[in-house]
Amino acid sequence: MKELLTIAIDGPAGAGKSTIAKRLAKEYEIVYVDTGAMYRSVALYMLEHQIDLDKEKAVVDALNHVDIRIVYKDEVQHIYLNEEDVTQKIRQQSVGEGASKVSAYLPVRKKMVMMQQEMAKKTSMVMDGRDIGTHVLTDAKVKIFLSADVMIRAKRRYNELLEKGESADLNAIAEEISERDYRDMNRDHAPLVQAKDAQLLDTSNMSIDDVVCAIKKIIEMR
Ligand code: DC
Repeated sequence: MKELLTIAIDGPAGAGKSTIAKRLAKEYEIVYVDTGAMYRSVALYMLEHQIDLDKEKAVVDALNHVDIRIVYKDEVQHIYLNEEDVTQKIRQQSVGEGASKVSAYLPVRKKMVMMQQEMAKKTSMVMDGRDIGTHVLTDAKVKIFLSADVMIRAKRRYNELLEKGESADLNAIAEEISERDYRDMNRDHAPLVQAKDAQLLDTSNMSIDDVVCAIKKIIEMR
């Protein structure tokens, strides 16, 4: 059987993980799995059912009613929450913040990680998140940790919003990103940390092409 190519990409919010992972998926003709979308879907369920995200027991009790499914349409990941396609809905900033909260709870993580590991058994993929190299795909062929200066990450997000015609406040975005970093890095279970065998790439002064090129070199050296 042909060896699977698994690429794990971790890093903080706004480091460019999804953009880079999508490019790599195209180049290598493999699947892209955005694990943040799974935590976002859990958060969306809780928000839509007025469940207090700060109350672990309430979130964990409701978890049984959360059914998440990933489907690919024209090579694009669609995420279904209880049969509803929530791919767009989960991109709201409040859902991202909520995802950062619910992802701190162990039963939530266990449920998501099990699904992610199951997916990776069958097919080559590039998977991005916060704990892919450290917990989900510990045997990944290539592990990358993407980072960038917080103000640069905030500026990227700010530009994205302006391009979409939305208003944005750069300092507020930077603050929100810093809070999310802190929560993701300081939780008890599977906090965001660079895996020992991951290659660190600081993308602060790199273009998307530069990053893709650097990762391709790393892959080809393995
Ligand atoms: O990558 P993202 O912004 O869509 O992720 C949303 C939140 O989900 C992030 O702040 C932390 C959590 N998350 C996680 O804990 N583990 C993952 N593998 C992916 C995301």
